[in-house]
Amino acid sequence: MNTEWNKLAKKWSGKIYQKRNDRVKERMAFIKRNVHLFKDKTVLDVGCNAGLFALPTLTVCKKYIGIEKEDKYFKQLKITHKQVNDSKMEIRNCRFDDLYAPKKDHPEFGGVILSRVLYYLSDADVAYLKNEILSKASAVLVVCGSKAKGWRRNKNDFWKLNAVIKLLEGYKTKVRWSGDKKLFMVVGEK
Ligand SMILES: C[S@@+](CC[C@H](N)C(=O)[O-])C[C@H]1O[C@@H](n2cnc3c(N)ncnc32)[C@H](O)[C@@H]1O
Repeated sequence: MNTEWNKLAKKWSGKIYQKRNDRVKERMAFIKRNVHLFKDKTVLDVGCNAGLFALPTLTVCKKYIGIEKEDKYFKQLKITHKQVNDSKMEIRNCRFDDLYAPKKDHPEFGGVILSRVLYYLSDADVAYLKNEILSKASAVLVVCGSKAKGWRRNKNDFWKLNAVIKLLEGYKTKVRWSGDKKLFMVVGEK
């Protein structure tokens, strides 16, 4: 898996993205350690960017759906999608709120990945996430935290652990901090 991932990562333009993210290994290890929770589930990866977590997830899931709103990242995601070449992987160039726009139906998600994306979501997005998506899912992997410059994008509180724990009401949660203590990773399981 590692070799396969490294080979792919070298090819796709997401290489630049990886270089810039010194914590990427830690996050990837977190996803890999917990990916068994997504076994045979339809997994939603909100703000998946270049689709970094698609490969480990695809080893176990029924379907991986990555959504990314920014065109420039979606271009990278398209490259990943092509290289991965797995019919279980679906990608969408849309905002999270498109999931609840009238007439847009979405499948029920058993698993959800929320990696460094909660800060970007509006209150309406978060309410929808909690009531319509997390309430039906049974496993969720969250990466959040850090007050470092540029990380706290929104007015919301998702750089604080207690905000995430509150969002995951009804889940059994397990928390792990990154080596530099700036990021926390939460496993939510029902
Ligand atoms: C900090 S990046 C994290 C990327 C990836 N999840 C990771 O952990 O490496 C946040 C991503 O979420 C996307 N994003 C932010 N708000 C979004 C929304 N409302 N709907 C879909 N994607 C969104 C951004 O374009 C960006 O690619």
